[in-house]
Amino acid sequence: MCGIIAYSGHRPAVPVLVQGLKSLEYRGYDSAGLAFVHMEKLHLFRASGKLEALEAKLDSGHVLHATSGIGHTRWATHGLPNEVNAHPHLDVHAHLALVHNGIIENFQDLKNMLSGCGCSFRSETDTEVLVCLISHGLNQTGSIREAISWALNLIEGSYAFALISKDHPGTIWAARQASPLIFGQGTGENFVASDIPAFLPFTKDVVFLEDNELVEMNSSQWTVFNASTLAPVSKSIQTVAWDVQAARKGGYKHFMLKEIFEQPKVIRDCLSGRIDRKTGNIHLPEIENLPAPGRLHIIACGTSYHAGLWAKYLMEDMARIPVDVEIASEFRYKPLVPEQDKVYLTISQSGETADTLAAIALVKKHGMPVLGLCNVVGSSIARESDHVIFTQAGPEISVASTKAMCSQLVLIFLLSLYWAARKGLLDRQTAEKAIAAFETLPGILERSLPLMRETAASIGRKYSSSRSFFFLGRGIYFPLALEGALKLKEISYIHAEGYAAGELKHGPIALIDPDFPTLAIAPPDHLLGKVKSNLKEIQARKGRIIALTQEGSGLEVDDTWNVPRTWGYLNSFFMLPALQLFAYETAVYLGKDVDQPRNLAKSVTVE
Ligand code: G6P
Repeated sequence: MCGIIAYSGHRPAVPVLVQGLKSLEYRGYDSAGLAFVHMEKLHLFRASGKLEALEAKLDSGHVLHATSGIGHTRWATHGLPNEVNAHPHLDVHAHLALVHNGIIENFQDLKNMLSGCGCSFRSETDTEVLVCLISHGLNQTGSIREAISWALNLIEGSYAFALISKDHPGTIWAARQASPLIFGQGTGENFVASDIPAFLPFTKDVVFLEDNELVEMNSSQWTVFNASTLAPVSKSIQTVAWDVQAARKGGYKHFMLKEIFEQPKVIRDCLSGRIDRKTGNIHLPEIENLPAPGRLHIIACGTSYHAGLWAKYLMEDMARIPVDVEIASEFRYKPLVPEQDKVYLTISQSGETADTLAAIALVKKHGMPVLGLCNVVGSSIARESDHVIFTQAGPEISVASTKAMCSQLVLIFLLSLYWAARKGLLDRQTAEKAIAAFETLPGILERSLPLMRETAASIGRKYSSSRSFFFLGRGIYFPLALEGALKLKEISYIHAEGYAAGELKHGPIALIDPDFPTLAIAPPDHLLGKVKSNLKEIQARKGRIIALTQEGSGLEVDDTWNVPRTWGYLNSFFMLPALQLFAYETAVYLGKDVDQPRNLAKSVTVE
């Protein structure tokens, strides 16, 4: 996590860095800082708390003279989130300044070694060890490039960093290993950052840096080197299709709300070019050469993991493919038993989640195929997977994931249809029904979102004083219940647990009382009768119930929340935004920081 940016160009650097940090705040926001060289001196500004605290420290005088510099927004791993531990960090002589995202695992050994050479440290961070190590190498080699190469050879762990030197104003060095870093080429200006939106207002021409690559740049030139050998590496520039507006709030109060309301568009974009209306065929050219698996193993974290659980129900029903779903941090430390015909599917919005990446490395080590379902083009997961399908949700900025899950569900649905057809299991009638329902879905959702939001606000207010919540569902709605609970706790800090409705009686029901409400996803489908019985058990213990349902359910509960109805599994696309809006409106009512909830980061690039 943490976001880094570096700029060298013709504009005042500080506003560029601050603007870039704003778009990187989703990666961490417990402290921030920046550094630049002016009048042969390194200037350092750091503050704990949100970016505004840093901005307040930047007096408008000499900060506007610098035309290059580095910036950082932090999610603490080593050391408290205070000013001393905030980045950038300086070497002992205050000649070098460095910003870092990642974890130096052997930092204690290196710190001991450097202390033995007379180095003293001001902070508790692994980052200060890195900059001091480079400075130590500089004393020996006399060249920053060589010093970096020497230092990187000694460190274990993950990093993306950017470095400036008092003696070389305008030059920036940046390198990566297992943390994202993207170079942006402008006209008379160059950038590196953890993510593209940080420099999107200035350029769309990017170079995705690989592990063990080092870029050296100034305003007009840049070269990528192999960090170990220092041999130049030839890189190609890619132009990204993202537009600046997509990475801005566009009139919405929060990114989360904007992203929830973008879901009809996301569904349209995901479907675009994927369905042949005449034949009912699904186009997934990305996996044309991958036969339908005999067994599917899905690996993911957080919201993406919930999408994986949802996939299990669909895949097993429609494509008759047995599916295992595992949390990446669990999977990566278990023995892997290779099986013929098995395909590993990783799901990730960011494409940078460290545990999911480690899981991919493990699968590949065993020579098994990895299919990645990923939102960010050029991300590590996209590049490491043997086959990749992009979810096309556009940049997701809010820490709580919403539209990314919607896009994952669309692609999972298409994948199920695709493999069902390949196995000869998809009858024409089902294909036609699914496709017809998909076509009308975005329009219905678009029209229903404003009312959904109003209902979410009024029910959210009514239950906002609750300390705990159950979210229940059966079948495909069980994973959505888990997701509804995750959304509520992430942004409103209300304790919430998702359960399979039939499991409540095996323990959790002991918690039910009038102050412990339940939100049940209970559409009028073949499982409604079963869910009704579960809800009766709750009512018998005086538990209050909100039923997220549809016309005709006949439920008698405290609050009935009807959403529109469509065909089969696609009903999930109404339940999901309702749950997201419920969490959103509750958090807003409680005055919480919706887009940047405490202790969280959007992209978890550490273990
Ligand atoms: C973090 C985010 C979640 C996200 C999870 C997995 O915890 O806060 O919103 O679901 O990481 O991220 P990924 O990018 O791999 O989907």
